[in-house]
Amino acid sequence: MSGRRDSVLREMGLAPLWRLRDRPAVDDACGQLADAVVDRAPLQAERSADTVPAAAGAVDLRIVPPLHSDARRGHAGLPPLAAGVAPAVTPEHVADGRIEGLDWDALEATILTCEACVLCQKRKQAVPGVGDRQADWLFVGEGPGAEEDERGEPFVGQAGRLLDAMLASIDLRRGHDVYIANAVKCRPPHNRTPETAEIAACFPYLERQIALLQPRLIVALGRPAAQALLNQEIKIGASRGRLFRYGGIPVIVTYHPAYLLRNLHDKGKVWEDLCFARRTMAELHARADAGAPENLPTI
Ligand code: URA
Repeated sequence: MSGRRDSVLREMGLAPLWRLRDRPAVDDACGQLADAVVDRAPLQAERSADTVPAAAGAVDLRIVPPLHSDARRGHAGLPPLAAGVAPAVTPEHVADGRIEGLDWDALEATILTCEACVLCQKRKQAVPGVGDRQADWLFVGEGPGAEEDERGEPFVGQAGRLLDAMLASIDLRRGHDVYIANAVKCRPPHNRTPETAEIAACFPYLERQIALLQPRLIVALGRPAAQALLNQEIKIGASRGRLFRYGGIPVIVTYHPAYLLRNLHDKGKVWEDLCFARRTMAELHARADAGAPENLPTI
């Protein structure tokens, strides 16, 4: 760990946190990450008790289709969708297709002036997203908190510092091959969980961000983000270690950093999820390099 990262983690009361035993040289991170160590003794016990099969060894690239695929709906006892019907939320303010044609700058400007739901009434400013607009990685959180509302950037408070540490643990850095966005772009009052209608009203913005970014892999941080992306009921504990899909893009879910700050004993699980994400990304790169389709088979 770098001295700077060490001191950040110490300040957060989280050091020593995570480190890779050997920094992976190239994209063969899967195997090496399986050997990754959790750097605090009690977590070794947590890890062995909580090991998720999919997080160890080769990545199973079968992906779980979202509820809006007919196969998935069938499993859930729902009828197939009528041809051409988009099950995703389509609030009136995007019915005219304005958002789907926007470029990055126009999209951000639109978000900053959005009044599509009640969250606009109490916000100081909307928080569109931050990072590398050509990133392979997209991390999606829930919604801005007080500091984000103040500064206009996602994940800059305490949970954000933990997210930065999580990114660093797999050699990622905010702004470099990573884009960070939220399911809702305006702060819910008192940091409450955003309502379904608020997530629905805001979803076209995330949808457009994903369309512009075309990430290889999405990591959903917490339940609201996962449910917004996957359009189905999600329990993080039961969904970890699985590959879901948003359109053709693999989605991995893990706990939200704010949850982790309250439940430090689950740190080992998040570490496993990050390793799984990193192995999946390595596999996606390997497939792309080999000219194999990245559009992975579904189960
Ligand atoms: N929590 C989130 O989900 N997003 C932020 O931007 C900050 C905290």
